[in-house]
Amino acid sequence: MPGSYYIPRVNLIEPGCFKKIGEWTKTLGGSKAFIVASLGEYGEAQGKMVADVLTKDGIPNKIYAGAGPNPTDKMVMDGVKEYKEFSSDILIAIGGGSAMDCAKGIGLVVSNGGNIHDFEGMHKSKKNLPHFIAINTTSGTGSEVTSVSIITDTEKDRKMTIVDWRITPDVSVNDAELALSMPASLTAASGLDALSHAFEAMVASDATPITDALSFEAASLIFKWLPVAFNDGQNLEARKEMCHGAFLAGLAFNNSGLGFAHALSHPITAMYGTPHGVATAVVLPAVVKYNMQTSQNKYAQLAHAMKVDIPWHSDSDNAAKVVPALLKFYKQLKIPVGLLDLGVKESDIPALAEAASKELVGRTNPRAGSIPIFTQLYNDSLNSVRL
Ligand SMILES: [Fe+2]
Repeated sequence: MPGSYYIPRVNLIEPGCFKKIGEWTKTLGGSKAFIVASLGEYGEAQGKMVADVLTKDGIPNKIYAGAGPNPTDKMVMDGVKEYKEFSSDILIAIGGGSAMDCAKGIGLVVSNGGNIHDFEGMHKSKKNLPHFIAINTTSGTGSEVTSVSIITDTEKDRKMTIVDWRITPDVSVNDAELALSMPASLTAASGLDALSHAFEAMVASDATPITDALSFEAASLIFKWLPVAFNDGQNLEARKEMCHGAFLAGLAFNNSGLGFAHALSHPITAMYGTPHGVATAVVLPAVVKYNMQTSQNKYAQLAHAMKVDIPWHSDSDNAAKVVPALLKFYKQLKIPVGLLDLGVKESDIPALAEAASKELVGRTNPRAGSIPIFTQLYNDSLNSVRL
């Protein structure tokens, strides 16, 4: 809703800030912490890092490393059961979007009762969640600052979008030291997700001067620092600036909405398992071209953020530099520039276009769409020659 801004109450963004989570758990009144982490060994290890800090600070805790990629209703309800069995009073999520989204779902059901399906849609909760600290480790998703959770309905094999101001975390944590171990491919995928958030938020129909400022600075930082972090994962300055960029992009889209790049990418990820950030980046140039007639001045500003504009040239000329600059940027990050390279089949486009037309995230795209439009955008994204 334009004019209403949702943002975590406290935001920690500096190398080493992760160590303050025990202090903040106590400040929020938490005495038994439920740690939600990603599924598998890596998630277990991240959960253990949180547990070690809390234990050192004398806070009993339990790890639930059950948030798989694209977390499901079952994962949420299993987490609810474990949360109650442990009699927890505070939620702490660590990881990327999956852990955060799962924790948000657990919090909703723990405090409101019922089933996670009851909360699909906008602002369905009636009661506040337990206090919630969200620790982001990927500098991309923005989920540590948003009031959005995407949960898979396993029975209907579809994704439920939950938007609820009460699931906005109380404390967001972006510690660049936690990002140092990210492999280059994940750095690129998550960084491009953040870049797409900035691009879509900038032109979204609910954008305001506040979200424009956030989007512009996010795009500037990500365009400058993502290649540095990609080429040298141990560069703490690059990791820190990517924390800033992804954080700003998250705040921007949480308050202005997204657009067709996300609407088109969700079905690709669902059908082929393509990483979200890569799928979104690959369809973004076609969406930029499509939106050009409504958003030329905004794209000219983004060209300035990318430092590819020429100040005395017209908005039209500068905006036209955005798509070539994006394609060049993708090559630097060694990600494909077309859907064919991602393994998308032309014969699947009708099904993809129909699924994209049902995506809630597309509602704030600055130009309206339709199934034929989504079909065209997928076709335009098949390879960079078509752009
Ligand atoms: Fe995204």
